[in-house]
Amino acid sequence: MLVLGIETSCDETACSIVKNGRLILSNVIATSLKEHSKFGGIIPEIASRRQLELISAVVQTSLERAKVTLKDINAIAVTSSPGLIGSLLVGISYARALSFATKKPLIDVDHIKAHLYANFLSSKNFQESVPKLPAIGLIVSGGHSSLYLMKSPTNFTLLGQTHDDAAGEAFDKVSRILGLGYPGGPAIDRIAKTATDTCLQFSCAQMPQSYDFSFSGVKTAVLHYYQKNKATSPQELAKIAYGFQESVVSILVKKSINACLKKKIKTLLLGGGVAANSRLRQKLSDEGKKNDIEVFIPPLSLCLDNAAMIAGLGYHWLKK
Ligand code: KG4
Ligand code: ZN
Repeated sequence: MLVLGIETSCDETACSIVKNGRLILSNVIATSLKEHSKFGGIIPEIASRRQLELISAVVQTSLERAKVTLKDINAIAVTSSPGLIGSLLVGISYARALSFATKKPLIDVDHIKAHLYANFLSSKNFQESVPKLPAIGLIVSGGHSSLYLMKSPTNFTLLGQTHDDAAGEAFDKVSRILGLGYPGGPAIDRIAKTATDTCLQFSCAQMPQSYDFSFSGVKTAVLHYYQKNKATSPQELAKIAYGFQESVVSILVKKSINACLKKKIKTLLLGGGVAANSRLRQKLSDEGKKNDIEVFIPPLSLCLDNAAMIAGLGYHWLKK
């Protein structure tokens, strides 16, 4: 069964064809990210205007790369939420029109849960084992930081979420404080690797009684430290980036592993843009091994926003 997925929740315009909820036949992603960099964040108007221009070509290219036509498609899946309203509207309107014209079912897919589903996808060169369910899922993106209990591809229970900034948002804001540009996650990841002084620590809100997170405090701590110490040299900036990254990664890993241990669950899934973070990938894998938990992390290409995860999860809703 072939599902055509469409994703336009933020700056990407993406379309993918996925077979039986697992095999990626094509995965096309266009992004307007560069156009937003100078503003230090996504400008919704720019994003949606670009998506309007790009969507037809992206869908057409995705069909061509998968070597199929619209006639071969069984259903159309589209990100319905959460996301920028104007951007979502472009994808949803296009998907609705396509569904109406082709008389194929239309499936709404939740973007956040789809990020976790990225762990179930494979391409011809990427044949790994499918994660066993139930699983604990940590989703860390630019807009969300949540822990879920996933019993099946269509059964998710929210265990905890951020009270304020999302993890990716904290990376982006700290990067702006340090003058490292947007998007902040990759910039901080890169410079933290060059740190020689790794002693600086920033504390992150613990909230030990819950699976919730809070990242606005650590961001403010970085701001105060930066202003007080007037850090400008590359080594000073690397030291701050390292300390900040360490504190965010530690709390994310700690809460995810705790959830697995408390609920006696042996599978841990990571998803979302911040899953691209090299320190988070490494630490979560290490702690998983120590605690006999199997950790799944999508390849980098499936961590960031893409439509394969939408088509893949859409297949399960179609079956249901
Ligand atoms: O999932 P995503 O592509 O978009 C949303 O749905 O939000 O996530 C984007 C976020 C941005 O905040 C970006 O800074 C962060 O993911 N990010 C990273 C890294 N690569 C992207 N954060 C930390 N380390 C990275 N290497
Ligand atoms: Zn996302």
